[in-house]
Amino acid sequence: MPSPGLGTYRNTDHGECVDSVRTALEVGYRHVDTAEAYGNEAAVGEGIAAADVDDDVFLATKVLHPRFTDDYSAGSIEANVRSCLDRLDVESVDLLYGVHWPAGGYDPETTFEVLAALHDEGLFDRLGVCNVTVDQLEEARDASAVPVSVLQAEMHPLLPQQDLREYCEANGIAFVAYAPLGNGRVLDEPEIREIADDRGVSPARVSIAWCLEKGTIPIPKATGRDHIEDNWRARDLDLTDAEVERIDAIDDVERQYSPDYAPDW
Ligand SMILES: NC(=O)c1ccc[n+]([C@@H]2O[C@H](COP(=O)([O-])OP(=O)(O)OC[C@H]3O[C@@H](n4cnc5c(N)ncnc54)[C@H](OP(=O)(O)O)[C@@H]3O)[C@@H](O)[C@H]2O)c1
Repeated sequence: MPSPGLGTYRNTDHGECVDSVRTALEVGYRHVDTAEAYGNEAAVGEGIAAADVDDDVFLATKVLHPRFTDDYSAGSIEANVRSCLDRLDVESVDLLYGVHWPAGGYDPETTFEVLAALHDEGLFDRLGVCNVTVDQLEEARDASAVPVSVLQAEMHPLLPQQDLREYCEANGIAFVAYAPLGNGRVLDEPEIREIADDRGVSPARVSIAWCLEKGTIPIPKATGRDHIEDNWRARDLDLTDAEVERIDAIDDVERQYSPDYAPDW
């Protein structure tokens, strides 16, 4: 999967979101992350169509969100997948996260049965899940005829997600690191700032480089060209072993996303 990808949560101004996506693709990104719940799939689709790039763009979206529905019936899942594709104005996506949060009326049997039928129809290539524990990931894999090959979870220097990462690595599951800047919080962490100052780069680059070093696929959200380019250049930052160890040793744990419908992490 192309890495890093572009996150788009809270990029809700239509024109601004179109510009962010187009700019990111022109800078070099080839992976864009959106969701039904972000309310910007139409803008993401438009940004991809507007970008002057020849090669493939890896497009990922997510269906159903407990803030908007608890109807996880087969009919609702199917209708939601089709609506995502309509808004994105595509026939299929490269990656569908069939579970955005395992909440509301989520039932693995129903969910993965209907997703398998939609996969057979060619509506998506890879299947992923978000925001699950190791046990829930195992339950999803058991219930799904289509391999669950991607996990998306919050991950950054203040939430290293060792257990989930080890499970994914052992089972050939790609780990997509969401909020790789801790939604901005990591940028204030003294260790991160000091390493950034020593290396003459931004704290954002240090945080993304650390996520890359851990073998994950970070999807930082950035709106304007400055942040989009800065984050892309994290690919060129080789952290030393000592720098990685220093970041690993940060003992503040600060999860940014733990709503009341979150699993018992
Ligand atoms: N599956 C899920 O439940 C879930 C949950 C949360 C997030 N996500 C995905 O993960 C993506 C990223 O997470 P996130 O948006 O929560 O947080 P994030 O990427 O950790 O941080 C985004 C924040 O950092 C700022 N920023 C970006 N690049 C910067 C730079 N180089 N220097 C300084 N500030 C910078 C952004 O500002 P600007 O916008 O002004 O550039 C924004 O305020 C989301 O957009 C979404 O696609 C998924």
